[in-house]
Amino acid sequence: MALLPILCYPDPRLHTVAKPVAAVDDRIQTLVADMFATMYDANGIGLAATQVNVHERLIVIDASEDRDQPLVLINPEVVWASPETQVSDEGCLSVPGIYDGVARSVAVRVTALNLDGQPHTVEAEGLLAVCIQHEMDHLLGKVFVEYLSPLKRNRIKTKMVKARQLAEREAGR
Ligand code: NI
Repeated sequence: MALLPILCYPDPRLHTVAKPVAAVDDRIQTLVADMFATMYDANGIGLAATQVNVHERLIVIDASEDRDQPLVLINPEVVWASPETQVSDEGCLSVPGIYDGVARSVAVRVTALNLDGQPHTVEAEGLLAVCIQHEMDHLLGKVFVEYLSPLKRNRIKTKMVKARQLAEREAGR
């Protein structure tokens, strides 16, 4: 397993719309293993392929308390979303250190392929539902800060660019 570099906002590649996974083959199995390793290493609860610069419809999630319920969603589609929404604070491995409130459906039903290439349905609510919606946005090229006001988003953008420049200077580049 390998740790993959995570794209950081405002990297324009985060706005790429992902294509469907054509076949759940060895390449995808390896990618999924690497994405889980990367997500757990970064203490994240979800990671979309978009964030590791692979523009295919694939997400990995573990929203469990004990970090022992890995969930793979390949070519996920939301088939139902509750009309009731709730605002909760979200963060993102591509926008480190930033947390802000986003309104999401409180429950969703999603169909996807699993690692064996078999279709399955996931019913989710609470944190898992939020996480699924957040990760599926990544596959459409959408980062959660795009739900915030332009003022907040620009502040975040400036902060991210400065942090990147500082890190590059410290690395002597
Ligand atoms: Ni994210």
